[in-house]
Amino acid sequence: MSTLEPPVRGAGCPVAHGPLSAERTPTGCPVSQRAADFDPFEDGYQQDPPEYVRWAREQEPIFWSPKLGYWVVTRYDDIKAIFRDNITFSPSIALEKITPTGDEANAVLASYGFALNRTLVNEDEPAHMPRRRALMHSFTPEELKHHEPMVRQLAREYVDRFIDDGKADLVDQMLWEIPLTVALHFLGVPEEDMDTLRKYSIAHTVNTWGRPKPEEQVAVAHAVGNFWQFAGKVLDKMRQDLDGPGAAESGGWMQYGLRKQRELPDVVTDSYLHSMMMAGIVAAHETTANASANAMKLLLQHPDAWREVCEDASLIPNAVEECLRHNGSVAAWRRMVTKDSRIDGVDLPTGSKLLIVTSSANHDEAHFADGDLFDIRRDNASDHLTFGYGSHQCMGKNLARMEMQIFLEEFSRRLPHMRLAPQQFSYVPNTSFRGPEHLWVEWDPLHNPERAHPALRRPKGVEPLRLGEPSKGAITRPVVVESVTPVAEGIVKLRVVAPDGRPMPRWAPGSHIDIECGHPDVSRQYSLCGDPADTSALEIAVLRDPESRGGSSWVHTSIQVGDKLKIRGPRNHFHLDESARKLIFIAGGIGITPVSAMARRAKELGIDYELHYSGRRRATMAFLDALRTLHGDRLKVYAQDEGRRNDLAALLATPEMGTQVYACGPLRMLQALEAHCAAWPEDTLHIEHFESTLRTLDPSRERAFDVELKDSGIVVHVAADQTVLSALRAANIDVQSDCEEGLCGSCEVRVLSGKVDHRDVVLTRAEREAGVKMMTCCSRACGDRLVLEL
Ligand code: FES
Repeated sequence: MSTLEPPVRGAGCPVAHGPLSAERTPTGCPVSQRAADFDPFEDGYQQDPPEYVRWAREQEPIFWSPKLGYWVVTRYDDIKAIFRDNITFSPSIALEKITPTGDEANAVLASYGFALNRTLVNEDEPAHMPRRRALMHSFTPEELKHHEPMVRQLAREYVDRFIDDGKADLVDQMLWEIPLTVALHFLGVPEEDMDTLRKYSIAHTVNTWGRPKPEEQVAVAHAVGNFWQFAGKVLDKMRQDLDGPGAAESGGWMQYGLRKQRELPDVVTDSYLHSMMMAGIVAAHETTANASANAMKLLLQHPDAWREVCEDASLIPNAVEECLRHNGSVAAWRRMVTKDSRIDGVDLPTGSKLLIVTSSANHDEAHFADGDLFDIRRDNASDHLTFGYGSHQCMGKNLARMEMQIFLEEFSRRLPHMRLAPQQFSYVPNTSFRGPEHLWVEWDPLHNPERAHPALRRPKGVEPLRLGEPSKGAITRPVVVESVTPVAEGIVKLRVVAPDGRPMPRWAPGSHIDIECGHPDVSRQYSLCGDPADTSALEIAVLRDPESRGGSSWVHTSIQVGDKLKIRGPRNHFHLDESARKLIFIAGGIGITPVSAMARRAKELGIDYELHYSGRRRATMAFLDALRTLHGDRLKVYAQDEGRRNDLAALLATPEMGTQVYACGPLRMLQALEAHCAAWPEDTLHIEHFESTLRTLDPSRERAFDVELKDSGIVVHVAADQTVLSALRAANIDVQSDCEEGLCGSCEVRVLSGKVDHRDVVLTRAEREAGVKMMTCCSRACGDRLVLEL
């Protein structure tokens, strides 16, 4: 982005009529026909916003919409950049009426004293962040967990009401009312007159993001006015009760805000609390209700995914993220340009209004591979922008996640045989909030699982949810063992396939899978050693370790053909540089598994390579014949009992530019390699690490420090007994993770300033020295402060 020369515009048209004009249209106006036709109130947008703007995402990612009077932004990176810079791209218009109302409706609103003012959603700096900081405490995972039992109880009671009916409109009979009840509890508002509140909040949506006809505008204005007065009355009552008996500990977010007002009267003002009261009900309720309805619709439209969720509840957290990505409840948001800017080569003059179509960003192929595919195991699903990003990111995101997870748990346990009833889906026409108005489902009550297993109705000992973004490590996949084949003394090869015969996920050489070894808490990593082109199965080879207590010995003694296993991955922390001029592969013992897949790839690509394979005896070395057939003289075998050793000093005596060394094997061999590669160019040697060298955090030896989050505008304190990752999560900041041992690279963040004490094994020496990224699960600050791009 950059500041511009003043753009040259055609008469009445805000688009710069520069060199683009002649290219795009013969009329001299650069607005293309499709941009001119764009209308977010059309059924096409209402039914499927990302599909409706696919053409733009692919060909014209930022365009001027004459019908809307907004610039429309459709790609992931552009939208994230806009969220990141909340000064240049002000949120001030986020709650502005997208369709200006007529005089009569305005007079009605005025008669109610309607004065919805700035809220956390649409407030500029410097006012916004002090308020956000003052009010965010109630949204932290630690505080939110108090609401979990109530949400579970509500979900059970509502399902009880219709489970024997064989059909239900999930929106009308559950998904609207529970989020409203939870929102009211969260805010501390007494539960009264829910139906009226429901009408009010729909009216507020139509008033702000919809296109009501002139005759509807007046009715909407009355409902919004009533909503405003209702919010004011409830707030007054709360204020009176604040010092009443037992009030000190009680209350929700609004009572918290009223107490903060006493401490910070200039920050938390009366008008602010009144506006937040009204906006808070809508924000906490409607978005979650719509997101839950969208999620159930999407899962039931994908019966395979629904079946998997019903069979394995551990998939639910990531399924929720994928539902939020694929079909979230917030389709688009708005920003105002405060200084002449350029994004993606398009000039945006000061004062331009932007419709940023987050639902389109969530399908951007540049960020989400196969973005239209609904994949509940997608490992970057939670990168979606449905909650926004940066300093204005939705504060209630973890409350929404909690409710959605509990709804999915309840439905998948008690109504796994539920299916969508035939119906047409309708949406309240508006640009931003999306969810079906009704969601009819049906099932055969005679087959309700709890008729045969009553304990399913009220299961005991339910584990509390892990609040926040799901860990990648929780995404499992069922497989069936197709064959178990001895391939050397003490080594078996396992071939696993999908239970339903579908293709296995794609993988690249260097990837591994985690296998649950008979218990969810016992898992081991094994490198994939087959042919990536064979998508019918995954293959690993497992050496029986005499010291093993549950990993390799379990594989050798317990696994049989036909057994069902759970795996995670494939994931790759050991990427092959396919642009290398030459590759040297060095394997010791069972370390041949990842290396064999890499050497096969080098041969396919026609890269010059050597494969050095050491072992105690030939009988203990897996795949020797197959490797000889495939690699011929490029394979060098060193069997100790034949008196042959790989002379690493001689092999690596002369550093070669453009050569990369990949190694896997015993620790001693890897340490020797590090020493022999010391004179080679930086980052020549690549080693597969399966074990972390990380020590347990010892608070007596660590020091506390602060991390300043540039995009979010907050400072998070990292105590001596905390990792950066855990401190970020406690502050409601999403960072992905997997191993949490410094092995995988999932928790990487960008460092803007400050010196990092790197403790991972992922970054290369050069990357560490550059100091621009760190692994938050293990690395710390050398000094008192780090500034991160978060
Ligand atoms: Fe794997 Fe941090 S989560 S390196």
